[in-house]
Amino acid sequence: MVTTNPVPRFPDGFLWGVSTSAHQIEGAVDEREPSVWDVFTAEPGRVRDGSTAAVACDHVRRHGEDVALLAGLGVDAYRFSVSWPRVRARGGLDFYDRLVDDLCAAGVRPVPTLFHWDLPAGLDWRERDTAERFAAYVSEVVGRLGDRVTKWITLNEPAEHTLLGHALGIHAPGLKLLFDALPVAHHQLLAHGLAVRALRAGGADDIGIANSHGPTWPASEDPADVEAADFHDLLLNRLFADPLLLGRYPDGIDALMPGDVAADLQVISEPLDWYGINYYAPTRVGAPQGTETDFGGIRMPAELPFSVREISGRPVTDFGWPVVPEALTEVLTAFRDRYGDRLPPVVITENGCSYEGVDDPERIAYLDGHVRALHRALEAGVDVRGYFVWSLLDNFEWAEGFARRFGLVHVDFATQRRTPKASYAWFRELLREQRS
Ligand code: FCB
Repeated sequence: MVTTNPVPRFPDGFLWGVSTSAHQIEGAVDEREPSVWDVFTAEPGRVRDGSTAAVACDHVRRHGEDVALLAGLGVDAYRFSVSWPRVRARGGLDFYDRLVDDLCAAGVRPVPTLFHWDLPAGLDWRERDTAERFAAYVSEVVGRLGDRVTKWITLNEPAEHTLLGHALGIHAPGLKLLFDALPVAHHQLLAHGLAVRALRAGGADDIGIANSHGPTWPASEDPADVEAADFHDLLLNRLFADPLLLGRYPDGIDALMPGDVAADLQVISEPLDWYGINYYAPTRVGAPQGTETDFGGIRMPAELPFSVREISGRPVTDFGWPVVPEALTEVLTAFRDRYGDRLPPVVITENGCSYEGVDDPERIAYLDGHVRALHRALEAGVDVRGYFVWSLLDNFEWAEGFARRFGLVHVDFATQRRTPKASYAWFRELLREQRS
């Protein structure tokens, strides 16, 4: 095992956890309704290795083993997602009821995300009433689990779900709407605000969102590059943070959104108890180049008003994502500077990397570097309250299928055998040290 200097001490009560999502681990596809991801993965050529998540980590059947892995790791909290298509099936909430009981019995705090991209097939985020239906489903979930679950996450990464799923067509539902995908962002944000209200009505008082954010670095000081980078920052960061934290869309985007946008923004900006950030890597952006560009294996079309450039001189993960821990400090201090008092306490709801192997020194180095970078943000005065590693288990990594392994625990998908990696032992040790 790789040994490192002790990580500096985080404040008492800091929440250490790991994350997963329903579609990526659960399997038991016959016990729920289909989602847009089932439809998408059934289409040839959509997923790199041709796989589907019909079995995935078989977590619905093996959740006892997975809760034991969480308890063995010693995390305070477990972020998982509730599958809306499973809740719609008869008895669907029973599984989450048992999971929550098991987590509580193991001393691990359940932190459910209510939507992590697996929209029931037949629903569509271009339709406003999807947001209202979402709120009704959220009421049902809080009614059933709210006596034991105290911390809630509304949505996971509406930015990626909009961009990858609806603008570029590389994730489900596979739509290539480019900028016509903006209503999809608005309806998810509205769904978030309605969900906050539904959760509060159900007695919840510790509510956040998991938005993906990262610094955007201009490729040069050339004004064309700076302008393109600002636009990318607007799409990834401000479009999804400004409405929540400031109650307005940036740069006149409200004119492009559907419905009574001013009234919706009142709902969207319902106060949050904390703000979740999923961080993986920064993006270097320049002026458009008239050709497709590569963004961590994703083909970005030539029509976009920016192009993604390589960040050189850094190690990269198996996904090709650069490893830049200090950009985590940067995104946090930038958020504090940008939003000031409007930014509630922050929780890192995802951070991690894909590497092969059970002996995974690169993952340990990645996590170690990012935990230290997080501590530097605390020292700089950012109110950070928690850190969740993505992910507990190797799992179904969306359009990459099983080709990317993000877990602290290795999964042999032929046998479902779980093997804790060296990084699992490293994280367990970090948690022990933090509490000693
Ligand atoms: C995030 C997703 C998560 C996982 C990681 C690697 O964008 O929220 O489900 O795929 O990336």
